[in-house]
Amino acid sequence: MRKYLIAGNWKMNLVPSEAKKFAKQLVESIKNVDKDVDVMIAPPFTALDAVAQEIKGSIIKLGAQNVNDNEKGAFTGEVSADMLLDLGVEYVIIGHSERRTIYKETDELINKKISFSLKKGLKVVFCVGELLSERESGKTNDVVKTQVVGGLKNISADDMKSIVIAYEPVWAIGTGKVATPEQAEEVHAFIRNTIKDLYSKEVSDNITIQYGGSVTDTSVDGLMSKENIDGALVGGASLKVDSFTRIAKFQK
Ligand code: 13P
Repeated sequence: MRKYLIAGNWKMNLVPSEAKKFAKQLVESIKNVDKDVDVMIAPPFTALDAVAQEIKGSIIKLGAQNVNDNEKGAFTGEVSADMLLDLGVEYVIIGHSERRTIYKETDELINKKISFSLKKGLKVVFCVGELLSERESGKTNDVVKTQVVGGLKNISADDMKSIVIAYEPVWAIGTGKVATPEQAEEVHAFIRNTIKDLYSKEVSDNITIQYGGSVTDTSVDGLMSKENIDGALVGGASLKVDSFTRIAKFQK
């Protein structure tokens, strides 16, 4: 059966020296999580090396927040999959709404990044989610389906074992306005069903689907009590040792 994944997306926060200290505290604090829970943190690129050293030998896995879709070459300012792998990165977050909206990443580019990352042996946290205006006009399922289908184009059933989907409603990100467990569960069930239609019941039963958007140590248990919610992708609350630890030790 599927594993839970609690992940911290640090976004553009913490310089390497701060990140190193923070990771050291986290390793101490987060030791005894349940065996069926994976924990991952995704620091900025500049802090990956320092954090990798600190979490070595711990249960915490390393993630990156972005990757380029090319092998290497003239792509000024970009970071390749090999560069991440060489530092011990295991996961990469792709399709985050901040990259979709601020940096205009399309489903097509997201699909290229996913394909290339999988080819390289990275695991992918693939983010989808609707804007407030889309929710209010009843388009949530359509939007999410388009993102899921577009992002997963030509991805094989076997490769789906290396993908986690993160449902992050854009209106809940960084707003303090967490989706209710019922709102989240409804979309998670829809995503799982979409995966079943695209692949098979086996693939859909086994895929981990995280919720993200203003998750805190007080909202996590309610969300995790839902059948189709298999983890959390946490922004703000992942930057505090106590709250991220409590989230990783959620009560179902
Ligand atoms: P917040 O938890 O700060 O709302 O951010 C969620 C998020 O975007 C994680 O990727």
